[in-house]
Amino acid sequence: MSNYHIKHLEEYFQVYRKSVNNPEEFWEEIAEEHFIWRKKWDSILEWDFSKPEVKWFEGAQLNITENCLDRHLTTRADKTAILFEPNNPEEPSEHITYRQLHERVCRFANVLHDKGIKKGDRVCVYLPMIPELAISILACARIGAIHSVVFAGFSSTALSTRINDCDAKMVITSDGGYRGAKTIDLKTIVDEALEDCPGVKDVLVAKRIHSEVDMKSGRDHWLQPLLEEAYSDYTAEIMNAEDPLFILYTSGSTGKPKGMLHTTAGYMVYSAYTFKNVFQYKENDVYWCTADIGWITGHSYIVYGPLANGATTVMFEGVPSYPDYGRFWNIVQKHKVTQFYTAPTAIRALAKQGTELVDKYDLSSLKVLGTVGEPINEEAWHWYNDNVGKKKSPIVDTWWQTETGGIMITPIPFSTPTKPTYATLPFIGIQPTLMDEKGNEIKGNKVDGRLCIKFPWPSMARTIWGNHQRYKDTYFSAFENMYFTGDGALRDEVGYYRITGRVDDVIIVSGHNIGTAPIEDAINEHPAVAESAIVGFPHDVKGSALYGYVTLKDMSEDRNHDNLRKEINQVITEHIGPIAKLDKIQFTDGLPKTRSGKIMRRILRKIACKEADQLGDISTLLNPEVVQNIMDEAL
Ligand code: WT7
Repeated sequence: MSNYHIKHLEEYFQVYRKSVNNPEEFWEEIAEEHFIWRKKWDSILEWDFSKPEVKWFEGAQLNITENCLDRHLTTRADKTAILFEPNNPEEPSEHITYRQLHERVCRFANVLHDKGIKKGDRVCVYLPMIPELAISILACARIGAIHSVVFAGFSSTALSTRINDCDAKMVITSDGGYRGAKTIDLKTIVDEALEDCPGVKDVLVAKRIHSEVDMKSGRDHWLQPLLEEAYSDYTAEIMNAEDPLFILYTSGSTGKPKGMLHTTAGYMVYSAYTFKNVFQYKENDVYWCTADIGWITGHSYIVYGPLANGATTVMFEGVPSYPDYGRFWNIVQKHKVTQFYTAPTAIRALAKQGTELVDKYDLSSLKVLGTVGEPINEEAWHWYNDNVGKKKSPIVDTWWQTETGGIMITPIPFSTPTKPTYATLPFIGIQPTLMDEKGNEIKGNKVDGRLCIKFPWPSMARTIWGNHQRYKDTYFSAFENMYFTGDGALRDEVGYYRITGRVDDVIIVSGHNIGTAPIEDAINEHPAVAESAIVGFPHDVKGSALYGYVTLKDMSEDRNHDNLRKEINQVITEHIGPIAKLDKIQFTDGLPKTRSGKIMRRILRKIACKEADQLGDISTLLNPEVVQNIMDEAL
């Protein structure tokens, strides 16, 4: 029993050893005791990384929504499942209980069924962060359709590419969405996308912003009236353990987006088990992850992981800056949030505002803080720890990927001592290792290399939709019998992991391997600096040299930029050494970012290499407008 909930470090090591020495026995016990099954498995694990093929709980039958909804109706029917906080703070928040959520999912499932959606069909969901987003994916899962959520900030081209790649029959969208002071006309974007998507037969449209939209007769249907007419119960489709649950697209370093396919049983077991332990979730907690359900973080840690544990999960429609930069802290106070999970880019944006707004609210309900998505720099870590956690809430720096389905390397709060910028130790059942360029495993501590995983875990993606060869080439070909993550990492003297960034972000300067993340960390320590990004550019003598793009906390500040450049290089020299000094430093108003907040170094690299004519598609950026400025002022 106790294996489900780890409470101290010794227990972590003990359970970890068990999970690695006897993985099948370990996962069988977790699956047996904490989930409901229509039929138990014939085998726990079958795997072969050379194909690659991985099967967990083969022969088992279940429906994930019975685990996320039905089973809570006897014990938690009136507990809030989803706590919806609207964009506009004046609009009341909505508490959706487990009973209500069950009913709404069943009604939605009936609507899908009536529109002819069957087990195995693909349904594309393009919705803002409103309850219908969570409800629609659960409804797909209830009838056995494969959902493919596309983040509602993507353009019509990005949307049509994804719809066509997985051959979706239906799109679920809304008239529009609120984002801070702005509204976004999603239906118009869908209409544009569908000009290139002949396979889409039906579009369900939720009303959110009450805008005028074109409804194409025969194809487009208002969602709410259909839900009202629908029957309020729906018998869940019985799924096999390895039946697909969802597809989620992630961008590769080249080529079109990769549709990562996740399957049912393993994903459910791992997302639920990690949620319970990484956030130390207790029955009356109010958990909040600020991600969008359009990303894997939202799938695993807003919807499936929390609901499988009967948790209360906050769903926030808006942005951190609306109506002001105190909004996150206002929500924490208002709902007495106990676990708060966000991204380093959000922390840096909030830190830039100083501490006045964070001090204005009562954050004493917080017990655990989390970060995910990119390496967190030391300055942001301390700001988060000091001002949000008041030095009493452990920070879980969780490393994982769309491909891994769940958290892989992370501290367990109150068990693992944290260390700024370190994701620390592997989660239960995870066997990471570091490899050198020649394909040898690097043993011992105080080493760095390419991060790989040696053994399957339940929630790993099983393939890339429609392209198994690409799945094999991308993840299982760099190193024999290993899953290659694409990240570099170091292991310190006690065995803690620190993710140093994508391996492709390593720059060789005068024969030295230089990771961009540690330099950015160093620069960000300078009191005037808000954010920075380092790329390489060709250099006659050094091979490559370093080009830094730096945004300042106060761009209007009348500072002598040459002095500032000297100071920045001084900080780098102090933290890393003169080898990592920057040849060029460009001050800029902003850095180009993906919708998930990652700095697009590819674009910055092209500009630094004077190849700005080959920028490629920048339309999916969060802020494409900064690119022209950076080009105009390039050094
Ligand atoms: C890549 C995966 C997993 C949900 C969000 C991102 C980077 C992620 C961390 C972390 C350092 C991190 C890695 C990884 N990353 N978390 N805690 N520390 N780097 O999912 O879009 O699939 O991106 O994000 O480089 O490979 P994703």
